[in-house]
Amino acid sequence: MRIGIGNDHAAIEMKNDVAAYLKEKGIEVVNYGTDEPVSCNYPEYGEKVGRAVVSGEVDLGILICGTGVGISLAANKVKGVRAVVCSEPYSAKLSRQHNNTNVLAFGARVIGIEMAKMIIDEWLNAEFMGGRHQTRVDMIMAIEDKPC
Ligand code: RB5
Repeated sequence: MRIGIGNDHAAIEMKNDVAAYLKEKGIEVVNYGTDEPVSCNYPEYGEKVGRAVVSGEVDLGILICGTGVGISLAANKVKGVRAVVCSEPYSAKLSRQHNNTNVLAFGARVIGIEMAKMIIDEWLNAEFMGGRHQTRVDMIMAIEDKPC
């Protein structure tokens, strides 16, 4: 399993902690985020990870900014991305089982590293259930191709 990780300046420390945690689990980590502690623009990193997931360069993506909100919004603009912001494990698990999310986001200013680890574990251990949920995910993805 290969996971692409992206972050802005608000989440460098948490990115490093999360990357170390994933590596401990034997997961390959590709760093698309910033390592410079200077103010930067989170959309750049959300887009990079989103494109890496959709192209198959990585299997899944994890995004971290101050809240997880801005960076996930950016990733969700990449066609094929289903990014979710989670501050607790239940939604993370269900977002895989029901919504087949391929990008997980959270906020370094919202949760601590231990909660982040629990969220990651539930997300990675869950499997998409398909069936009626596939129909609904297909409906979500079809919105991308509808004219505005
Ligand atoms: C950066 O100050 C902050 O806006 C960013 O990390 C994130 O929280 C945006 O959604």
